Amino acid sequence: GIVVSSLLRTTGKVTVDPGFMNTASCESQITYIDGDEGILRYRGYPIEQLAEKSTFLEVAYLLINGELPSPTELDAFITRVNRHTLVHEDFRTFMGTFPRNAHPMAVMASAINALSTFYPESLDPFDDDTVELATVLLLAKTRTITSYLHRRAVGEPLLYPDYSRGYVDDFLRMTFAVPYMQYDTDPVVVDALDKLLILHADHEQNCSTSTVRMVGSSHANLYASVAAGINALSGPLHGGANEAVLRMLTDIQKSGDDVDTFMTRVKNKEQGVRLMGFGHRVYKNYDPRAAIVKSKAHAVLQALGVEDEMLDMALRLEEIALNDDYFIERKLYPNVDFYTGLIYKAMGFSPSMFTPLFALGRMPGWIAQWREMMKDPQTKIGRPRQVYTGATARDYVPVENR
Ligand code: ACO
Repeated sequence: GIVVSSLLRTTGKVTVDPGFMNTASCESQITYIDGDEGILRYRGYPIEQLAEKSTFLEVAYLLINGELPSPTELDAFITRVNRHTLVHEDFRTFMGTFPRNAHPMAVMASAINALSTFYPESLDPFDDDTVELATVLLLAKTRTITSYLHRRAVGEPLLYPDYSRGYVDDFLRMTFAVPYMQYDTDPVVVDALDKLLILHADHEQNCSTSTVRMVGSSHANLYASVAAGINALSGPLHGGANEAVLRMLTDIQKSGDDVDTFMTRVKNKEQGVRLMGFGHRVYKNYDPRAAIVKSKAHAVLQALGVEDEMLDMALRLEEIALNDDYFIERKLYPNVDFYTGLIYKAMGFSPSMFTPLFALGRMPGWIAQWREMMKDPQTKIGRPRQVYTGATARDYVPVENR
């Protein structure tokens, strides 16, 4: 059932709902999830169809504008995003000032925040043209920033974009090519990354998206709001789980333990050991994104000729979990992050790049949600209430008397 908050307000009551397990913060027309049935749709289109037939920029357009673009609209959108792919030289210098071993998520959040200082003409949240400019700038620059995060870590220069190539194709070239050398991307890899970005593009009111909305509700600009979302995404219970899964698999491998021993530790809740990449607040069934990612993992590893025994380990962990009462009772299934890291690793990304890749994919969703909120007449500044449980009134005691 739905409790209308204005009723609670008039009666002077508040509800405590830790983790917002049962509180809707908004109405939205963007993404539909049925967690019991394992259904996910963007603007009504099933995720399976979009992942099979669409492209990342087309999905971005759909999420942000509400409808699939006509061929002319799509062309214009792609051209506009391409045109803004370069970053200012001072911006590159700024990103280069972080320590080489800085976690890329921290650099990314700082870089996205810093965009507002380079494009002061794109900050008005209520001017349609300005918001459109900020949208295109974010989609374009985030790709360049993500590519640079990898290149800095390996000590290589940022490459210039090639406008004749597609969004994902050129992202992979800018990330992995050797300067001045011909670089041919593998179509299987381009297709897989395109699909992974589509699968991450939105997921309604998750932790990072709620953060973007919360920050934006104070009328903070789009860059400030999205930078906050990136920070929320970085945690291992949210987007950081893709990196955590790979670290978990590596630890199991290094420890010499078999997967059954690890699963016993998980079920005993030993020192907070969790099966990372499993469980979800909303999905109490197989995450539909995980099913698609799992099938892609096989294809990509096969196409790249990579044999990764961690994939076998992950498959074994899943098999155990799906047949174990602990996981069955709690309805814990693989989420989108369980298999993505194995694909990113096979593509040549280091584990610390996995969550920035998630952020690159989630960017259209954050933008769409922020824009929807700004246009929604119901929007008010986000300001949850609390139930105070601290000390009752008492008198101040001077320090010498304590
Ligand atoms: N491994 C072992 N046990 C788990 C796991 C897990 N991955 N996830 C949940 N549980 C258990 C909890 O211990 C709890 O058990 P209890 O009832 O005996 O106390 C029960 O299942 C319910 O879990 P909660 O933590 O209450 O569920 P919540 O909805 O708050 O958390 C979350 C969801 C954060 C995703 C959780 O399942 C988790 O920590 N998973 C691992 C991290 C992860 O993969 N995060 C990515 C999520 S998807 C995304 O952000 C893109």
